[in-house]
Amino acid sequence: MADKKKIRFKVLRQDGPAKSDSKRWEEFDVDWHPQMNVISALMEIQKHPQTADGTKVVPVVWESSCLEEVCGSCTMLVNGKVRQACSALIDQISPDGQPITLAPMTKFPLVRDLVVDRSRMFRDLKTVKAWIHLDGSHELGPGPRQSQANQEEAYPLSRCMTCGCCMEACPQVNGHSKFIGPAAINQVRLFNLHPSGKMHAPERLEALMVDGGVADCGKAQNCVEVCPKEIPLVDSIAVVARQTTKHMLFGWLLE
Ligand code: SF4
Ligand code: SF4
Ligand code: FES
Repeated sequence: MADKKKIRFKVLRQDGPAKSDSKRWEEFDVDWHPQMNVISALMEIQKHPQTADGTKVVPVVWESSCLEEVCGSCTMLVNGKVRQACSALIDQISPDGQPITLAPMTKFPLVRDLVVDRSRMFRDLKTVKAWIHLDGSHELGPGPRQSQANQEEAYPLSRCMTCGCCMEACPQVNGHSKFIGPAAINQVRLFNLHPSGKMHAPERLEALMVDGGVADCGKAQNCVEVCPKEIPLVDSIAVVARQTTKHMLFGWLLE
């Protein structure tokens, strides 16, 4: 019987955040299955943690949850491209059985192997108050009506899953810059659009009128190219930049 087709995975590993001396590539051969994706291959590696040369190793660590490109937790570099591992189908990324490289994102602190800490994105959402304020839990009555046009503009912006792809691709997000990045700016557009969210637009804009705010975008547009949810990030940045300029020039009129 012919040998089963195998796919080789080259995984960049590191045992912990402070253990850069443990950084290494390890190679694993995984049996090919129809419809397999990177997460199912990682599950196989977890079951049989043995490198291609037969050495037993500790299982590779990664993060995943929804397995349907909704939670963003499995984001990593697959063949050098930032994307979700759960939607990376082996037959598409390795049609002729080419080796596949897996590495953690580089713009977030490493936790271990393929897991990074995306907390900064959640802190950034707090900084820009990316929510609708509700005053207590008592009955507030119906909210303001939202026009069809407003809903149509808001929906694509609301699809963000805080995956980090845009941050990874953005040249302005780096160790020397405070740039907040495109995801949080997009959320400011979303919540400033909302009829109730509008009330707190000045606070959101002021959070982006500082060093590391919206003006630090270099307009390279890498973010929009990698966003798996096809969020119009560059439009959002332009809209929010206009809002901050208006707020800077005329905000005092409204006080
Ligand atoms: S357009 Fe701005 S936010 Fe998007 S990748 Fe370029 S610099 Fe980053
Ligand atoms: S804007 Fe797109 S790429 Fe950025 S975190 Fe949200 S879903 Fe991910
Ligand atoms: S596991 Fe949720 S996006 Fe991949």
